[in-house]
Order: sequence, then C-alpha cells, then structure tokens
Amino acid sequence: MALNDYATALVTGASSGIGRVIVERLAARGLRVHAVARRKRRLDSLADKTGCVPHTIDVCDLDAMRKAFTGEEIDILVNNAGIGRGHESLMRASDEDVEATLHTNIDSLFHAIRVATPGMIARNRGHIVNMGSWAGLYGQASTLYGATKGAVHLLNQNLRIELLGSAIRVTEICPGRVRTEFAGKSFRDPDFARRFNKAFRMLTADDVADAVMYALDTPWHVNVTTIELCGVEQATGGVQVKRTRRRRGPAARR
Ligand SMILES: NC(=O)c1ccc[n+]([C@@H]2O[C@H](COP(=O)([O-])OP(=O)(O)OC[C@H]3O[C@@H](n4cnc5c(N)ncnc54)[C@H](OP(=O)(O)O)[C@@H]3O)[C@@H](O)[C@H]2O)c1
Repeated sequence: MALNDYATALVTGASSGIGRVIVERLAARGLRVHAVARRKRRLDSLADKTGCVPHTIDVCDLDAMRKAFTGEEIDILVNNAGIGRGHESLMRASDEDVEATLHTNIDSLFHAIRVATPGMIARNRGHIVNMGSWAGLYGQASTLYGATKGAVHLLNQNLRIELLGSAIRVTEICPGRVRTEFAGKSFRDPDFARRFNKAFRMLTADDVADAVMYALDTPWHVNVTTIELCGVEQATGGVQVKRTRRRRGPAARR
C-alpha cells in the first residue's frame, strides 16, 4: 500500500542496524529507495534483497551527496547515519574521534537536508526524519555524542519553523539503547561493548523502524514531531553526586 503519496526515499546509514531495516520497510511498501553508506558490499547485498539503489558515499562528503542527489525527486529523507566515537569520555577522545563524530552526526544532516529539501519545497510534498537519541534530550554521560544529538534536536525544532507554510513534515526519532553494531563501533574496549550490549533487553532496529513508519504513515496534515522510545528495562533521570576535595591555590596558602 502506498505511503501517503510518497514515491522516493533517501536513507543514510543504510548498511546496518536501524537504517537497513528502514530501507527494507520502505522498499516493501513500493518506494524507490536510495540507500547511502560507505560499505559497498553491505549495500549491494541490501540492493539484491530489496531492489534499493545503493550509493557508496560518505555522508560527510557534500560534493558527493550533491552529485548523487541534486535534481532527484526525494519525498522522504531519513537522516540516520551516525556514530558514537569518543562516547565514553570527551577528555579521552582523540581529535579524530571528535571531528568524525561532529561531521557525521551534525554536518552531514545539514548537507543532506540542503540537497533534498529544495525539491520538496518546489513540489510542496515531503518528510524529513532525523535520527536523534535519548542522549540528545537528557544528560547521559556522553558529552560528545549527547551534544551532537542535542544539536539534532534543535535542528528539528527550528527546521519545522523554517518550513512552516509548506506541507513538509519533520520528525525526530529519539531512541534509548538499540541493539545494533553501534556499541561495538563506539567503544574502544570490545569487552565493554559486549557487556554494554548484553546489559539488558534493549530496543531492536525493528522497534525503531516501526516508529519511523508510524510517523511516515500518518495523514499528510499530521506532523509527528518527536518520538521517544526505550526498552522496558531502561529509564533515565536522577541526580549524580560525588564528593570532591579541592586543592587550595598558592594565593590561599600564603
Ligand atoms: N544503537 C543505539 O543504541 C542508538 C540509540 C539512539 C540513537 N541511535 C542512532 O541511530 C542511528 C543508526 O545507528 P545504529 O544503531 O543503526 O548503528 P549502526 O548499525 O552502527 O549503523 C550506523 C550506520 O551509519 C552509517 N554511517 C556511519 N558513518 C557514515 C558516513 N560517514 N557516511 C555514510 N554512512 C555512515 C554506517 O554505515 P557505513 O559504516 O557502511 O558507512 C551504518 O550503516 C545513528 O544515528 C545513531 O546515533 C542509535
């Protein structure tokens, strides 16, 4: 069955996890789906399975994104690509971790939106789904990653205002932990990543894709602005406390 009157979608981060399932769902609904990621073999196998159009592109590469999609009629943009490098500690993160996380989780969304949205505006039809996180809404001891997802939160809120007066919808999806490859790639210590993934019953990529499909499937005049979801064994909140002893400076010791 058609998804509103959308015909074409662009999904970033399509080679694994949440993005891969979203591509499968959209293709199953008869849409032409452009699937973007860096791992070619993964994308090719997804294309064999779903009929999606694979694009081996780094989302941080604005020129490549422009070349691939300028002039394409994109009805649905799912900005899903994201990484969690430097997740454990901003102080222990490398310069490369910081740069890659900022570029991937923030800059690339702006690029994709600027490439896909002018056509949506011209046709007055479209839906932008940006993958946020609980970490972008609540403090969760992930300074770098949380701040990038916090930026995504305000991007959504402001974009909705900028696009007011058009029929283009903007949805933010904010999941708690999801069992995907994400933890394995985010944490330097593979044992920690394994423990992280096994600590409790998390959301699955299918659960998050269900939320995306719900937002896309509502009638065109409904703008599902934000969906928060987490596994039943996870909660957020509380106050962190820790005693500290401050060393007195030289002026105070005189
Ligand atoms: N897993 C969680 O607990 C969780 C919770 C909340 C939010 N999220 C968010 O959900 C989104 C999807 O994550 P996931 O859990 O499905 O993790 P995942 O399985 O690691 O998927 C991440 C996807 O992003 C792609 N990607 C990363 N950097 C890219 C780049 N520079 N250019 C193109 N593609 C790139 C990866 O493909 P290639 O490596 O092939 O390029 C992969 O397809 C992310 O935005 C993440 O922040 C995840």
